[in-house]
Amino acid sequence: MTQPSQVRIVEVGPRDGLQNEKAIIATATKIELIDRLSATGLRSIEATSFVSPKWIPQLADAAEVFSGITRRDGVSYPVLVPNLQGYERARAAGAAEVAVFAAASEAFSRKNINAGIDESLQRFEPVLERAKTDGVRVRGYVSTVLGCPYQGEVPLTDVVRVAAALHRAGCYEISLGDTIGIGTPRKAAAMLAAVADAVPMAALAIHFHDTRGQALANILACLELGVAVVDAAVSGTGGCPYAKGASGNVASEDVVYMLEGMGIATGVDLPRLIETGQWLAAQLGRETGSKVGKAAA
Ligand code: HMG
Ligand code: MG
Repeated sequence: MTQPSQVRIVEVGPRDGLQNEKAIIATATKIELIDRLSATGLRSIEATSFVSPKWIPQLADAAEVFSGITRRDGVSYPVLVPNLQGYERARAAGAAEVAVFAAASEAFSRKNINAGIDESLQRFEPVLERAKTDGVRVRGYVSTVLGCPYQGEVPLTDVVRVAAALHRAGCYEISLGDTIGIGTPRKAAAMLAAVADAVPMAALAIHFHDTRGQALANILACLELGVAVVDAAVSGTGGCPYAKGASGNVASEDVVYMLEGMGIATGVDLPRLIETGQWLAAQLGRETGSKVGKAAA
């Protein structure tokens, strides 16, 4: 078993979490969430998304959020961009890191970004070119790596092809998303192993939704293969409005608790993170989605 000695958590709550909320959250609450998160020791916080506000009205205030946060030294604040227009909006707001997002399933790609897989990869090319010139780091997502709400099974060869294409195009890290939380541990590990034959493990991250309660088990199976970057959302928020059945991301509190309990360093102050998750749940008017958060209440 090759377990990493430390893991970087990419906190996606302010983006993946809030994009899926029914109610529109106040801009000031989003800013406070990000500032609270950056005080916990997290080093990567996905702040918002410069997509079309018609598609994701919940994050229409991306520019105000991004310019309102207090940027801490040593913390990166990537933002989602679907095209050059999003990249330009993100840069105008001061973003120094962006993330592009593709899918392994053709059907999901069309529903989510109104383009097929190959067309979306072509659309990212000018974004990656501009980012290279500007010295902006680009993260790449591959969604539906363990199954698709429209297409069902997703062949591993498609996951590998899209991940390798994003890596070749210049993404420094590829995050592998089980968008609808349908995977189980052996399948998750087999998927990661297949991608790691084409992209170095050090450039891979896992992004698991907990729809069926499998996320921690899937993460553990992947840690044993040496992956050292894990996406998670405080309070277990999250989901994609264009993926039927997608519910919360694995809760950051639960991931930090598990990792630290296994002797894997995260650099995150767990009590502070729990407090932030409870604060967010109160803002959203519901119970926290984190088991560790509930146990601490
Ligand atoms: P489209 O309608 O095909 O776009 O959408 P278009 O290029 O034809 O433009 C239509 C209109 O949108 C135009 O405005 C553009 O200006 C505007 P109009 O002339 O009608 O007034 N527009 C924009 N406005 C602001 N910012 C932009 C932008 N681009 C165009 N960047 C598009 C195509 C990609 C824009 C759209 O489908 C879109 O924004 N999709 C985003 C969907 C999304 O954000 N989904 C959730 C994130 S993915 C996810 O959650 C999965 C992940 O977590 C990993 C996992 O869990 O697996 C990452
Ligand atoms: Mg997601």
